[in-house]
Amino acid sequence: MARTIVVASGKGGVGKTTLTANLGRTLAARGRKVTLIDADIGLNNLDVALDMEDRVVYDILDVAEGRISAAEALVQDKDFPELKLLPSVKCGVSDKIKAARFAAITALLNMGVDYLIIDAPAGVESGFHRAVCAAKEAIIVTTPHLSAVKDADRTARLLSTYDVRSVGLVVNRVRYDLVDRGEAVPPEKIAQLMRLRLLGALPESDLIGINALCGERGESARAYACLADVIEGRSDRIYSPPDSRGIFSFFRRRTY
Ligand SMILES: Nc1ncnc2c1ncn2[C@@H]1O[C@H](COP(=O)(O)OP(=O)(O)OP(=O)(O)O)[C@@H](O)[C@H]1O
Ligand SMILES: [Mg+2]
Repeated sequence: MARTIVVASGKGGVGKTTLTANLGRTLAARGRKVTLIDADIGLNNLDVALDMEDRVVYDILDVAEGRISAAEALVQDKDFPELKLLPSVKCGVSDKIKAARFAAITALLNMGVDYLIIDAPAGVESGFHRAVCAAKEAIIVTTPHLSAVKDADRTARLLSTYDVRSVGLVVNRVRYDLVDRGEAVPPEKIAQLMRLRLLGALPESDLIGINALCGERGESARAYACLADVIEGRSDRIYSPPDSRGIFSFFRRRTY
């Protein structure tokens, strides 16, 4: 049975799709069998983030309407054959797939897979409901900005009304230069304020995208490796860049 994890946020544009794609690749690079499901129906982006858009033939609507099986609709990653995507729909037909149908499709993909990761749409309306109903765990993504944190907090409270047994936080686009100068709230503090377990912190990066992770040497790749370790239960370490771990940085961060 796969672990079924929804990636949600409330606020749009905070990095859910980027995280889903990069976490999927990080886990697949470790040999895990990973299927990603694009639940942003009508605004497919995950195929683009994964550089798979040219190879999408069928989508989740074809599966929902019985034209093809869920397994046949999957697109395989070029680098990691164990990484697959169930693409979303290219046009605005969001209400055609009900939550129960979406959950049933997700369940069909469960066998023989280690992780099913569902990329939720922005907002907390029907698309969010559909994505969350199919999951047992949730990653809430926020940036350090107040508006994103507020929406993430609201999302966390809403998730507590679902059958989701584990909810963790990832703080994306962290500016460690600002954190070190005491000008931005550290990820640990954001998680503490939200009373959520911090699963990971991801740096602001000009290079973010799939290519940022290919060489597994860059800062983003190291941050995603830490996040994957925490998700897999191999470590509790939250990423921070080497020069932001010094004793003075520690005291600066304690001022929050
Ligand atoms: N760590 C990062 N550093 C810099 N840019 C980032 C980072 N993470 C994401 N981005 C950029 O932020 C933008 C939004 O990211 P993404 O599409 O993943 O967000 P989203 O939450 O899925 O959005 P939506 O709510 O519209 O689905 C993209 O241009 C992406 O490249
Ligand atoms: Mg998205």
